[in-house]
Amino acid sequence: MAPQLQRHNGFDIFIHWFNAACWLFLAATGLGLIDNPALNPLGNGYPRVLRALFGSGGNLLLAHEIVGGLWIAAFLLYLVFNLRGALFFLREVFSVSPARDMTWMLKKQIQMTMGEKMLLRLGLDPHLPPQGFYNMGQKAFAQAAIVGSLVIALSGMVMVLSQLTLDSDRTILVAWAIMLHYLAAGVVFAGLLVHVYMAAIAREERPAFISMFTGTVPEDYARHHHLLWYEQVCGGAAPTPPPGALPLDPSRGAAPAPRKGG
Ligand code: HEM
Repeated sequence: MAPQLQRHNGFDIFIHWFNAACWLFLAATGLGLIDNPALNPLGNGYPRVLRALFGSGGNLLLAHEIVGGLWIAAFLLYLVFNLRGALFFLREVFSVSPARDMTWMLKKQIQMTMGEKMLLRLGLDPHLPPQGFYNMGQKAFAQAAIVGSLVIALSGMVMVLSQLTLDSDRTILVAWAIMLHYLAAGVVFAGLLVHVYMAAIAREERPAFISMFTGTVPEDYARHHHLLWYEQVCGGAAPTPPPGALPLDPSRGAAPAPRKGG
């Protein structure tokens, strides 16, 4: 087996797939709760089928709220048990180098849509600037997913609490919550289409997909796609070791050198 680097720990892998499963369920049930056919992209047949499946609209709403509550609780537990990993993730995702990352983003769009030859034709160096633990595309999606998820969670809580304390038809707060809930879910969903394509379908990212189960990526992949991270982990003095990176992470019983051969 090719030499491997640790990329994700067990907490990260669990929360990612738990989050994906919750998203699937919440999107499916959420769409079933929109009973205005003018607003529901799936018309009114889908909500009718889903309500019948759950026994009633009330049960469907209850299931949506319970899974939404579990989703929020799981993230709170993740923060408690893996605060260091969460802070590393947030720092990586929100630290953007405008010159390097924006150039990467621009060139990557051209490369993916019109090919490397177009970069040459435009007089641009076809090499993409080196990227860290996440590339700029991953950062952009993660930023949208984090902000969007916060908006979804907070607006969802306002809606649930409004059933207990407020008249939901009359409060401006609830009206805003409903609008923001839809909007944030729509924005994250749009990003998800690209995320799932890049993560699960694009061949060049296959090692990253596998790492979401095994936790490791081949060193070669890390060098090609995340050179700055690779250099941090493997070369010279490493300023900020990623929490999942065994070689440099003493809190996980790390070995003093990069893990070879998985
Ligand atoms: C079933 C569909 C999904 C697949 C196949 C998938 C796949 C992946 C993979 C392979 C990675 C690791 C990338 C790497 O290590 O470089 C990843 C990371 C990530 N995923 Fe997903 N994912 C899915 C659903 C979701 C959902 C629903 C969300 C949130 C709404 C999400 C949010 C993220 C975030 C924030 C990251 C870290 C940043 C990034 O790599 O883009 N994923 N996903």
